[in-house]
Amino acid sequence: MKPKIFISRPIPDTVVNRLAEVCEVDMWPTSQTLPPIGEKIFNLDGLMTYGHEPVTAYMMDSAPNLKVITAVGVGYDHIDAIEAKKRQISVGNTPDVLSDTTADMTFALLLSAARNIVRGNTFVQNEEWSYYDPNILWGQEVHHATIGIVGMGRIGYSVAKRALGFDMRVLYNKRTRRPDWEVDLGIEHVELDELLKMSDFVTLHPPMSSETYHLIGERELGLMKSNAILVNIARGPIVDGQALYRALKDGQIAGAALDVTEPEPINPDHLLLTLDNLIICPHLGSATHQTRMKMANMAADNILAGLKGEPLPYEVIETR
Ligand code: DGY
Repeated sequence: MKPKIFISRPIPDTVVNRLAEVCEVDMWPTSQTLPPIGEKIFNLDGLMTYGHEPVTAYMMDSAPNLKVITAVGVGYDHIDAIEAKKRQISVGNTPDVLSDTTADMTFALLLSAARNIVRGNTFVQNEEWSYYDPNILWGQEVHHATIGIVGMGRIGYSVAKRALGFDMRVLYNKRTRRPDWEVDLGIEHVELDELLKMSDFVTLHPPMSSETYHLIGERELGLMKSNAILVNIARGPIVDGQALYRALKDGQIAGAALDVTEPEPINPDHLLLTLDNLIICPHLGSATHQTRMKMANMAADNILAGLKGEPLPYEVIETR
């Protein structure tokens, strides 16, 4: 009998076919409705989560055969990896492959917010561009500005490299300092409050945890410069949405660009959607043809190794 796996959202056919050679594959056919993982898990050997659907200890307890869970993504905050480890269930993710891709998106958001690209496009599409006006849509200078990177992991590192191409001063904040990166890149470690006070652009890349929940709230937004722009491409709950709304509405900061929201999708009535100094994208950080294909294959590699009882090629090392 082939081992049984469940894939929580569609992945490319070529990857499904690889898995189907050795597994019985059950794939939820759409991203429009939530996959019923709780109903499926009891007889699974492997689980691939491609949204951020929670996988809890309680669910694992109903799955005596479960050997491996993998995220298709680098973030695994939705999987209780500590509890999985206690049950000898391997947990994997897809790191590295998406760092440059997500850093590109960080810069796309930063530049769009700084230079009013979305507002400019809306202006033209609304047929408001009837004469050249040198006095509209002035933005913020990116080159030679100061960027503060919060959460300096692999994605933060890739953002720093891009920032140096724009001749920016790069500040970063990370629990464990990286003196090697400071030397290699010429970047400076500062405490979070200093970073917020000094930066023209603040980009967020920490993992989601109880420590980073609402890391950026009213007090932190109050420390930022009035010309500053906040970019969140990590997880929505890292920023307090109500506080961000007030800071943007009152002009306490100049703008924000979010690739992630709390919740996702954002409630259509959310006050943030009424602002024109805010850009929101629907969680597109790693969404390129090339990277999403690689992520699906890496997740498949994790499943195949885990089913054989081998160490996962991209295993999550849970240190808590
Ligand atoms: C990630 O890699 O964690 C992204 O959020 C996609 O899941």
